[in-house]
Amino acid sequence: MSWRRPARSLCFLGLALFGGACESGASSASGSDCSENEALVTWENWGAGFFAGYCRSCHSAGTPDRRGAPEGMDFETLEQVLLYRAAIEGSVVDDETMPYGGGLPSEELARLQTFLRCNP
Ligand code: HEC
Repeated sequence: MSWRRPARSLCFLGLALFGGACESGASSASGSDCSENEALVTWENWGAGFFAGYCRSCHSAGTPDRRGAPEGMDFETLEQVLLYRAAIEGSVVDDETMPYGGGLPSEELARLQTFLRCNP
């Protein structure tokens, strides 16, 4: 079976890099102030869909119309999102000016906060 990649350790590598790439058995790999449940809010199971649904109509390299969203501020990958973490916290959580004009359901807002906190 020498051809097999060591799936288990790849999983752990993913955890280390992206703070929760693997759902099953993920327990203590993320930020210290995150409960086990909170740590389960990941890019794969929530973030990708959230940013696609609420942000990428403007914040994406591929969108036909950025509607004035800053050039290069795209939310297509976890890395891009984490790059702008502080700005996202400021505009979405604190000022509630994003998504453009505000109006994010409070449930999603709370989940975003958890996501940003628990994906170091
Ligand atoms: C309808 C288009 C649109 C959508 C949808 C949208 N944005 Fe924006 N975004 C903009 C525009 C236009 C600007 C620049 C003007 C401004 O800052 O108000 C901007 C600016 C920003 C900034 C920079 C603000 C700053 O203070 O530097 C951040 C961060 C941001 N958006 C995050 C988000 C996030 C996260 C979402 C999804 C939850 C989102 N935006 C959804 C249009 C949009």
